[in-house]
Amino acid sequence: MKDKKSLIIYFSRADENYFGGEMRYINKGNTEYIAEYVRDLTNADMFKVEPLVPYSKEYEICIKEAKDRVGNAPIKNNLSDISNYEVIYIMSPIYWGTYAPEVETAIKDLDFTGKTVRVVTTHEGSGLGNIINDLKRICVGANILDSIAIVGSQAKDSKSKIESWV
Ligand SMILES: Cc1cc2nc3c(=O)[nH]c(=O)nc-3n(C[C@H](O)[C@H](O)[C@H](O)COP(=O)(O)O)c2cc1C
Repeated sequence: MKDKKSLIIYFSRADENYFGGEMRYINKGNTEYIAEYVRDLTNADMFKVEPLVPYSKEYEICIKEAKDRVGNAPIKNNLSDISNYEVIYIMSPIYWGTYAPEVETAIKDLDFTGKTVRVVTTHEGSGLGNIINDLKRICVGANILDSIAIVGSQAKDSKSKIESWV
């Protein structure tokens, strides 16, 4: 898989979050660590999905905002063409049981026919949640392979796990 032309589409938020049972401000989102590990291992290109309006830095406000954005989550920049890539990594924190709503906005109009999709979530207990079913609905024609779920607070220390998964 390492030698195939790959693209990482990821969402990740820094600021206040649950971190191993406590609230903490973090400078870099958990999923971003993993996106960077996979990039280093595969030489993939990266596309960061960014909300048009940033989420609140405060966790309690952010979770309400995320719920309101389900099905209507505008993003800053769009990705229009993935035809050059064979493998698409989709990486997201679990928000309300699935990917962050902005991820759906980023991928819903792309042509996934014949693409290999590999999924990474970071989470605080939900694992992959409903993400695979939701991606099957959106990524029509893709072959969704061997996904992996990493506990958010362990993301930074997951390099060797990611290395064997990649
Ligand atoms: C808006 C919001 C909703 C969340 N919902 C869930 C959830 O349903 N299940 C879960 O296990 N973790 C949930 N979490 C925790 C995140 O998935 C987890 O902290 C993740 O590692 C954050 O990744 P990031 O730092 O890359 O954004 C939620 C966090 C936020 C901010």
